[in-house]
Amino acid sequence: MRQIYLDHNATTPVHPEVRDVLIACYENDFGNPSSVHRYGRRTRVQIDDARDTVAALLGVSAASVFFCSGGTEANNTILKGVANSCKGRGRHIITSPTEHPAVLDPCAYLAQQGFEVTYLPVDESGVVDLQALEDALTDETTLVSIMHANNETGVMQPIADIARLAHQRGALMHTDAVQSFGKMPFHIDELEVDFLSFSGHKLYAPKGIGGWYARTPTALQPLLHGGHQERGLRSGTESVASVMALSKACEIAARDMQAEWERLQHLQQRLEHGILESVPSARIQGATASRLPNTTHVAFAEVEGETLLMSLDLQGVAISTGSACSSGSLEPSHVLKAMAVPETHLYGALRLSMGRSTTPDDIDYVLECLPEMVQHARVD
Ligand SMILES: Cc1ncc(COP(=O)(O)O)c(C=O)c1O
Repeated sequence: MRQIYLDHNATTPVHPEVRDVLIACYENDFGNPSSVHRYGRRTRVQIDDARDTVAALLGVSAASVFFCSGGTEANNTILKGVANSCKGRGRHIITSPTEHPAVLDPCAYLAQQGFEVTYLPVDESGVVDLQALEDALTDETTLVSIMHANNETGVMQPIADIARLAHQRGALMHTDAVQSFGKMPFHIDELEVDFLSFSGHKLYAPKGIGGWYARTPTALQPLLHGGHQERGLRSGTESVASVMALSKACEIAARDMQAEWERLQHLQQRLEHGILESVPSARIQGATASRLPNTTHVAFAEVEGETLLMSLDLQGVAISTGSACSSGSLEPSHVLKAMAVPETHLYGALRLSMGRSTTPDDIDYVLECLPEMVQHARVD
């Protein structure tokens, strides 16, 4: 049976060039980067080189890049770290209801600890309301955290505008860039953020590696205490092979990004035109907003997304009904609810997220299968 993987926003396969780096590292380099002897010195240099590569992709200095286990840890470190270290000045944080749980849950935790959290309203594309942000900012606001690209819809936020408003009121700005990092060219200077989170496994590197950028690392308090690695902000012996793999993935991303972006744009148009032609009642979320070209979030009327997911899976096509973390739950997506998607379409949503392996033939195959499946899945 044909196998088509259209769930790259959940995770990506390890790129063959990245796998070679991992294997070579496991075979040759086992030293602890904190050791003073040659084994340690060698892996220390490798980590330093990797930091340079990641920093170059972000257009920042290596001293502002920190490695950790991935997006969840980076978001937790920044949200809790900034909230705690700035609480003498204020206890107010601003975010949006369409964030990933790796932002929403730390915010809920902070609310339990006595912080005030404001969730900005979003429009029907999921883009935050800048006027509402301006109104919500107070002298007590220490951090604004808004994601760069949404993991379910691919919709991008006007991060530079948000950061400017935050800075005008003296607040720091964080963006969760887990879904956009390595997919599109951006420099921190253009985004104007103080903190940014990224993750390797959305970028053809292994799971369990990621990191953050911090313009002012001193504004953070560490989550973990121990061996003082990552300049005291992330204790724990570094996963050298994973760091090197992430670095290789960043090198490949920088090399192929532009061509891949354009290739995916064509595939996205082919997919979305095809869906709208064969199922006119379908809704593409955020169709008119700036969006990642690899992500199509489509909702069908009076259909259950889970039924479609299972039918596509039986035909060898792997997709998701929302974010991977909420798959398996029949609760409608919190992102769609915040975007006020009509009740008729709320349960029939699919996320198709393309990647390096996706071909025009894959898209045509999905377009062949989908209309009949939607027809059969209609809830009467
Ligand atoms: C937008 C976003 N933020 C954070 C995360 C969590 O990243 P990680 O899996 O590396 O912990 C994800 C993963 O799906 C994501 O899509």
